[in-house]
Amino acid sequence: MCLPGCSGRHYWFSGASEEAQSIETLAWILFAGAGVIWLIVMALAFFAMRSSGRSNTEKSARRMILWGGFAFPTVVLAALLGTGLLTLKSIVAERSDLTLEVEGEQWWWRVGYPGGVVTANEVRLPRGRTAEILLTADDVIHSFWAPALGGKIDMIPGRENRLTLTPTTVGNWGGLCAEYCGGAHAQMRFNVIVMEPDAFDAWLEDEAAPAQPESGPGLEAFLGEGCGACHTIRGTEAQGLVGPDLTHFGARTSLGAGILALDRDTLRHWITHTDTLKPGVKMPAYPDIPTEELEDMIDYLLSLT
Ligand code: CUA
Repeated sequence: MCLPGCSGRHYWFSGASEEAQSIETLAWILFAGAGVIWLIVMALAFFAMRSSGRSNTEKSARRMILWGGFAFPTVVLAALLGTGLLTLKSIVAERSDLTLEVEGEQWWWRVGYPGGVVTANEVRLPRGRTAEILLTADDVIHSFWAPALGGKIDMIPGRENRLTLTPTTVGNWGGLCAEYCGGAHAQMRFNVIVMEPDAFDAWLEDEAAPAQPESGPGLEAFLGEGCGACHTIRGTEAQGLVGPDLTHFGARTSLGAGILALDRDTLRHWITHTDTLKPGVKMPAYPDIPTEELEDMIDYLLSLT
């Protein structure tokens, strides 16, 4: 059961950030420390079984308690505690090159970048730069966890928690909500996309631009169905703040908070059967949109790159 977790984009020993590498080192030190303690306890148990029945002097018993029961655990556990506290201090950077705001909602992630850029369910980070991620929640407690990058911190309504990450490996890593937050908790996922710094800068610049195109039958269908009441598409009349910002929706890699690959078929299924894909989701299903209107809307949304 454990082995399937030992590779892939959610593997927590992938070491895809400096912080994850520190945590991995700490995990091995704790494992080694626990191994040494286990060996000594087993040796003492074996020794006790062999010598039971024989009379021991009170002096040697006292020595055993003093060294084995007091001095040894005190030194080893204090060393492990010290290592743990030092690692904890080292993985929280005081300075950062970039600040993101991530808000947990039932059941998706609102992701804000400098310059008013807002996306959803996708955290893009530049390799080699330290990103500060400010974590909040809108409704209930969620927990932001990107195992390969080492971050896991609760998102609590009314409170802002801070996480810093310095990615070292370019790639598309998995993230998930790690705190039970309601029916679709298991479907609250996201992607962490680590990019080369230049590519990240270019992406952020593109993302800051308003949506293109700003008109067309697909947009009319979108507005006609009332989608703009919940979703924003910057540059158009759609200015809703309840659901994910869709300004550059077509450039995303997933749909429904990381649960589906984004393509025509999944998008059609999502719009018409939202509630069967994610029970309890706030977005209503739209099973009755006329086919032509629906296809125009899908064309339009996928063109928003
Ligand atoms: Cu959000 Cu579990």
